[in-house]
Amino acid sequence: MSGHADNPDAKIAAAVRGFDAELHTQAYAQTHSDNVQLARLVEFLAPAPGHLVLDLGTGNGYVAMAVAGAEPACRVIGVDVAAQAIATDVEIASAQGLANAAFLVYEGITLPFADDHFDTAVSRYAFHHFPRPEISLAELGRTLRVDGRLALADAIRDEVDDVDFVNRFQALKGDGHVCMQQRDDVIEMVGRHGFEVSEAFESSIAFERERSAKYDELLDATPAPVLHSYSVAVAERHMYLKFRILNLLLVNRR
Ligand SMILES: C[S@@+](CC[C@H](N)C(=O)[O-])C[C@H]1O[C@@H](n2cnc3c(N)ncnc32)[C@H](O)[C@@H]1O
Repeated sequence: MSGHADNPDAKIAAAVRGFDAELHTQAYAQTHSDNVQLARLVEFLAPAPGHLVLDLGTGNGYVAMAVAGAEPACRVIGVDVAAQAIATDVEIASAQGLANAAFLVYEGITLPFADDHFDTAVSRYAFHHFPRPEISLAELGRTLRVDGRLALADAIRDEVDDVDFVNRFQALKGDGHVCMQQRDDVIEMVGRHGFEVSEAFESSIAFERERSAKYDELLDATPAPVLHSYSVAVAERHMYLKFRILNLLLVNRR
């Protein structure tokens, strides 16, 4: 399953609306921060003096700013579709004295960089929003130098989820969700684009959502083992769940 979206422009527009409003809130930082995982992703990237690093789907600049801080003699470019969030990233990087971090808005599919431009690249929690994931992977492979490292971290669909619960659930949020894929499908897909898996580990992300009729309807229609696999719990007003995150260190062997 490649997770190709029917209407890429609509997905990108929805992501811009949803994420411009959310990325720089405290609630977003609380849910999406994971300092243990972040340290391992920075290790994966091994930023060195003179390196140029891409953070695709940078959002609030969580990884970009960590990499820029870890190696002041590298340069990091965070790229995203969410223009307001990117403008805030620029202000934050400047306030933090991160002169080696830059941020750029792009149209959502084709990267505005030359071949072999970057030494390393990272994309965290963003791949499931890419409306043309095959093109995005090809673009990552094209703009990353041969033998360059790509740290790819994203939520995955559980193997027992044979009713596509996770994608139906995420689609209800209306922020341009495209597709969370199963672990084996992600590995097969990156391999087709010339990326070799060098290391892998799993982490997790826990969410809280306010309940509504549409969520309750989906939960009612979903078999218990599937709900159990995502640790779904329901309270009076809220629901809670947990997704697995697949963190891959890939090497560009194109
Ligand atoms: C869940 S956030 C992750 C942000 C950040 N990387 C982090 O680790 O917290 C998903 C990000 O993907 C971005 N995004 C959505 N569609 C995109 C696309 N087509 N290309 C690049 N980024 C996209 C969103 O704007 C948002 O910043």
